[in-house]
Amino acid sequence: MKTIALGITGSIAAYKAAELTSQLVKLGYDIHVVMTEGAVSFISPLTFQTLSKNPVVTSLFSANSPSEVEHVALSDRCSLLLIAPATANIISKIACGIADDFLTTLALTMGSQILIAPAMNTHMWHNPIIQENIQRLEQRGIRLITPEYGCLACGTEGDGRLASIERIVGAVKNSLNDDQPSAFSLNQTKTVLITAGPTREMIDPVRYISNPSSGKMGYSLAIAAKRMGARVILISGPTCLDTPPGVEIYRVTSACQMRDRVMEFLELSDIFISAAAVSDYMPVEVSSEKLKKGADRIVLQMQQTPDILMEVASKNWSGIVVGFAAESQNMIENAVKKLREKNLDFIVANDISRDDIGFGSDQNEVTIIDKHGRQEKIPLLSKDRIAECIMRRILVVDVL
Ligand code: C5P
Repeated sequence: MKTIALGITGSIAAYKAAELTSQLVKLGYDIHVVMTEGAVSFISPLTFQTLSKNPVVTSLFSANSPSEVEHVALSDRCSLLLIAPATANIISKIACGIADDFLTTLALTMGSQILIAPAMNTHMWHNPIIQENIQRLEQRGIRLITPEYGCLACGTEGDGRLASIERIVGAVKNSLNDDQPSAFSLNQTKTVLITAGPTREMIDPVRYISNPSSGKMGYSLAIAAKRMGARVILISGPTCLDTPPGVEIYRVTSACQMRDRVMEFLELSDIFISAAAVSDYMPVEVSSEKLKKGADRIVLQMQQTPDILMEVASKNWSGIVVGFAAESQNMIENAVKKLREKNLDFIVANDISRDDIGFGSDQNEVTIIDKHGRQEKIPLLSKDRIAECIMRRILVVDVL
């Protein structure tokens, strides 16, 4: 039976942690609840003591934690610290290494074995300080279960709602299986650099040009590469997806930021996979003020974004370069043309004219084409399975 410490903080979503505890206990996990002072204002520790059948810790020196080093003892027993709901306050405290209560002290002893499921008002969630702190945590290997869009307790609607219990339980299971390698594993460590998701090209402070890419394909590739034993660096545009376990993630917004991050990590990588749906154009000028409504028609001057894939492939870099071709007609012909023009090792072609696959869907059907023109068609499968097939194809060639 795996032991999990469940940290509960002072958000109205604290009541949802009761159902979460109940489901985790039913799955056979030994749950030890740690509540902050704020959490206790929302829901009674007795609820969690009853559901988990374990004492609940509510303060650093409480009767339940007679020893000063109780947090170390708990951290030694736990495979994971899950904080759900996680307030802006706890996120920022952990990001700064503050340890002024039991939960933050425990967090400091858990290293990267931490999953956080934030819940807060949408303006707090989008506050750059919170986003920067989230990035700091992610860069230290702490995994984020992204909040969802919906009605919030403050009466507004937006991002910031605690992820569904189903998603949190899924992330826990996924995290604890992290050590199970894939059936296919590498005999030497490779570093795989992957781009994923859309990019956003700002027009003014509140408007942008983007596309409906969900980032699922790139994230699935990151998970597959990690399972095969690779070191994985994921450069992600804005998505609602959770941090894949064990993956180093850098979140960016625009094509230019994505390009800079890719160049930063290229030299230490062996394989570059460009799965992001990078915008091809960006506004020539970004207005610093919100543009006012005026004329019936306006003209927006656009210029090309850097073609990251082309730049990587034309560099004197010895790694393997893999591109994606999202085509709405003559899929294979256009993909082969792109493979040659961009001088790639592989291209993964998919048909975006179909509703059942591609953008936003959980499934895909692709054809992998190598630089010699050899084609391998992967039938309709989940993006996770497709990702495994793609990684095997790339890595097998590399290993041989
Ligand atoms: O030429 P096209 O944009 O269709 O090529 C798609 C491939 O190029 C994808 O792998 C995508 O990630 C990559 N790309 C890029 N930088 C751009 C545009 C596309 O890396 N600015």
